[in-house]
Amino acid sequence: MKILMVGSGGREHTLIRKLKESPKVERVFCAPGNGGIECDAKCVSIDVMDIDGMIKAAKELEVDLVFVAPDDPLAAGMVDKMQQAGIRAFGPSAKAAEIESSKVFSKNLMKKYNIPTADYEVFDDYQKALDYIVNQNKFPTVIKADGLALGKGVIIAQNLQEAKEALNSIMNDKVFGVSGNKIVIEEFITGPEVSVLAFTDGKTIYPMVSSMDHKRALDGDEGLNTGGMGTISPNPYYSDEIEKYCMDNIFIPTVNAMNKEGRAFKGCLYFGLMITPNGVKVIEYNARFGDPEAQVVLPRLKTPLIDIVNAIVDENLSNVKIEWSEDACACVVLASGGYPQEYKKGIEIKGLNSDGQLDEMTVYHAGTKLEDGVFKTNGGRVLGVTSLGSTLDIALENAYKGVQKISFDGMHYRTDIGKK
Ligand code: AMP
Ligand code: GLY
Repeated sequence: MKILMVGSGGREHTLIRKLKESPKVERVFCAPGNGGIECDAKCVSIDVMDIDGMIKAAKELEVDLVFVAPDDPLAAGMVDKMQQAGIRAFGPSAKAAEIESSKVFSKNLMKKYNIPTADYEVFDDYQKALDYIVNQNKFPTVIKADGLALGKGVIIAQNLQEAKEALNSIMNDKVFGVSGNKIVIEEFITGPEVSVLAFTDGKTIYPMVSSMDHKRALDGDEGLNTGGMGTISPNPYYSDEIEKYCMDNIFIPTVNAMNKEGRAFKGCLYFGLMITPNGVKVIEYNARFGDPEAQVVLPRLKTPLIDIVNAIVDENLSNVKIEWSEDACACVVLASGGYPQEYKKGIEIKGLNSDGQLDEMTVYHAGTKLEDGVFKTNGGRVLGVTSLGSTLDIALENAYKGVQKISFDGMHYRTDIGKK
C-alpha cells in the first residue's frame, strides 16, 4: 500500500513509523511533514487545510489511503471530500468530528444520552453569561469556547474578575474568532485525568491502553497550558474497575449516541476523562489521536496498525483481534525556549544521529526541519524522546537518559513526567 499522512507533528511521525512496521506498507508520503519525518517518508509541501491540493496529491501519487491525523482538516471535512473524490481515507466525517469541534454539540450529546460529564450551561450572549456567573457565585468556574481554539479555548477563572476577562476576550474581542460565538460555562471538577484513545468503525469499539498527558508547561503542573509536555502509558490511576465502568457507561454509549444522531464515528475517538470523587466524567472528546498520547500508546501496539486502519475504513473492525505489549512507555517533550508563548525557530539541534534518532530509543519529531543534513528547531514542541520499559520507572529513566544526550539553545522540558 501507498499511504499519504496529513499532518506535521510528533503524532504523525509516530503513526508513520508504526504503519511502516508492516511489510504491507510499501511507501509513505507526508504532507507537510517535518525534519524527522523526512527520514521515514517522502514529504510533500501541502498545507494541512488545502483540501483540493491534498486530493490532487493523493491522485498524482496514486496512494491507496489518506490518513487525516489533525483536528482542523477533519472538522473542515477533508475525509468526506476525499471519499467524494473516490479516495479511501481514514478519519471521521465532518459531522462526526463535531464531537471535538463543537463543545456545545458534545455537551448536549452527553446530556441527552446520560453520559457522565460536568454540569454546564450554554450561552451566546455576553450579558446573560455574566449574569449567570454572578448569580452562581461559585469559583473556580470553567469557561470554554465552543469551537476549536488550538487547545487554548478553556479558561479556569478563579474569581469574577478573571471570568469577566475570559468572557470579554472570547465573546466580545473574539480572540478565537467564530469559535467564541457560543460558550459553555461548566462546573469545576477535580481528580486525576486519564486519556483513553479508542479504535472504532462506528459498530465496534476497542479502547487502546490508557495514558496520561502533562498539559502544563512547568514542573508541578505550574505555568501555562501547552499542547502536552510529556506522556506515560499505562495511566496508573486507570484501574480495571474504572475501565469496565468506562466501557459500559461512556465508550459504548458514545458510539451508540453518535449512530442515533446519524453521525457514525469512524476513526480514533479520544476520551479525556477525569476520575472525580463523584465518579468518572468526560472532560472532552477529540476526533483523532492525541499528541503526545499517540507517542506512548502506539509503541505498545502489537497488532499491525495498517490492519486496524483498513478494518475501520472497511467497517469490519470486529474481525480484528488487537493485542498490546505489557511494557510501559514514556515520552518527554523537548520544547523551544519561551513555548507556549513566543519562541525562536531555526536553532541547531545537537545529539541526534543522521536519521534524527538516538541509537537506544525513538525520538519522535514535532517542530523540526532538516537543512543541509542539520536538524533545526521549527516549532514550539520540538522532539518527543520516547522509551519502552518493563516498568514505568524503567521507561522513564531511559527516556530521561535520552533527553540528556540532546541539546539546543533555550531547550526546556519537564523533569517530573510520570512522577505523580
Ligand atoms: P480541554 O482543552 O478541554 O482538554 O481542557 C483543558 C484542561 O482544562 C483539561 O485537561 C482539564 O485539566 C481542564 N478542565 C477542563 N474542563 C474542566 C472542568 N470542568 N473542571 C476542571 N478542569 C477542567
Ligand atoms: N494531548 C492532548 C490532545 O492531543 O488534545
